[in-house]
Amino acid sequence: MKLKRLYAEEIALHVTSLSQSEVEQLIEKPKFEEQGDLAFPCFSLAKILKKSPQAIALELANKIQHPLFETVVANGPYVNSFLNKQTVSKEILETILMEDKNYGFVQMGEGKNIVIDFSSPNIAKPFSMGHLRSTVIGNAISTIAQKCGYTVKKINHLGDWGTQFGKLIVAYKKWGNASNVKENPIEELLALYVKFHTEAESNPSLEDEARSWFLKLEEGNEEALALWKWFRDESLKEFFKIYELLDVTFDSYQGEAFYNDKMDRTIEQLTILQLLTESEGAEVVDLTEENLPPCLIKKSDGATLYATRDLTAAVYRYENYNFEQAIYVVGHEQSLHFKQVFLVLEKMGYSWAKGLKHIPFGFILKDGKKMSTRKGKVVLLEEVITEAIALAKLSIATKNPDLENKEEVAKMVGVGAIIFHDLKNERQNNVEFSLNDMLRFEGTTGPYVQYTHARACSILEKAKYNEKSLNVDGLTDSHSWFVLKRLMEFPVVIEKSFSQHEPSQIAKYLIDVSQEFNKYYAHVKVLTDDHLLESRLALVKAVTIVLKEGLRLLGIKAPDKM
Ligand code: ARG
Repeated sequence: MKLKRLYAEEIALHVTSLSQSEVEQLIEKPKFEEQGDLAFPCFSLAKILKKSPQAIALELANKIQHPLFETVVANGPYVNSFLNKQTVSKEILETILMEDKNYGFVQMGEGKNIVIDFSSPNIAKPFSMGHLRSTVIGNAISTIAQKCGYTVKKINHLGDWGTQFGKLIVAYKKWGNASNVKENPIEELLALYVKFHTEAESNPSLEDEARSWFLKLEEGNEEALALWKWFRDESLKEFFKIYELLDVTFDSYQGEAFYNDKMDRTIEQLTILQLLTESEGAEVVDLTEENLPPCLIKKSDGATLYATRDLTAAVYRYENYNFEQAIYVVGHEQSLHFKQVFLVLEKMGYSWAKGLKHIPFGFILKDGKKMSTRKGKVVLLEEVITEAIALAKLSIATKNPDLENKEEVAKMVGVGAIIFHDLKNERQNNVEFSLNDMLRFEGTTGPYVQYTHARACSILEKAKYNEKSLNVDGLTDSHSWFVLKRLMEFPVVIEKSFSQHEPSQIAKYLIDVSQEFNKYYAHVKVLTDDHLLESRLALVKAVTIVLKEGLRLLGIKAPDKM
């Protein structure tokens, strides 16, 4: 039910100088609940009509009559309407119960494709906190995009190519050993990489060796390829452990290496378009006019770069997925890189480059400092997640010792806590990492929302709830009304969250719904046997539907019991 649209329609009947959609854009929520449910400010009309907004508000308020709006009043320069609680609540409950999981579906993306590049860790390096954020945010945006009707391609653009592989090959051949790599791939490969850099400080010829091994790799040398493939496979096995814990999947793992044989075409095109210039032996695209440093395409030794592969990948993706939007969920430290890549594509004449978007995010902090996985300070992410699950299990064991599937629920709660803690913050902000905070069952946490959902489920179970026999009437008391108003907002929140690529909109909304429902539950005896019992049960059911679906959009499971 699009109440805002309906209100706009009614107002537009009496207004000639604004279109219905202009009116709709102006409609807002009154500052205080007691001022009404929808407000139309008359300032723009006042400018056009050269009358005071107060006078216009009075006139309009008198004219509007519709069964869904109980009263319409002028409040200074605003026309405020109070919805007819009886009719609206009945309708909204029936809609949510009928649409169930589909409630909140938005049609904006139907028939359109969107490519989402996220997670994208680097082979032979630890899965960093930044990759965790990218994974969690990217996965949520993917699910939200699907809810908005888009066909989504989830791409893990693995960092599996580049000069670092030359270094790794040299280091492995000099100091490495196969069984260590097999046992502990990431740690061992990282140690080799670090050793390479320490040794290279006193022995710069190592750098030359590494360059020549990377060139061999780019040319398809068998030994180089075999080692590369092995490092890649072993690292991927480690990454999959994390994806399994987070329950995240991808449609493609075509990383940087995939574009190795496709880059010639990019370079050729750049050459034909006369976009390449030489700078200190390297080939670059000059971006002085745009006030940016040049975009490096080819090094003096002929090796390609990160940007060359991203240019090639964008073209490949457009040709294969015909996207309307292609988004890159990558930390803000890469903003310059994406600006350069997008600009070069525009210079190449690709009009679809407008649809490319970098979706940046902030750091994860520990005690105010950036949490790093570099050098010795490796925080093994897998351990962090396992610890969250163990802590969740402890608190479940004290809260609900008889719970049957404790292990499974602990995983849902522990992982959910980590994801929610990340997503409740606007993505550009830094996030302070604290397992204790994120696992609390009260406050603005994932477990709080999950717990609210489970509590609502248990009310339904007690009542032997049977949806088919429900006879839903309207609910007009204020506690129900506040919950219902929140539930009504779900589709709008989903749409906003998608257009801003901001899952925090949904996370915050779920906290609101939970708080409103818990207030309701504290004030209203749901299971009283009177003529409104079934309507109240419908409300409780509607809350479970919205909480569960909202959590799903964030990549979090909602157990029925916990
Ligand atoms: N592997 C890169 C990193 O860890 C992120 C890749 C992001 N995606 C892209 N198409 N550049 O920094």
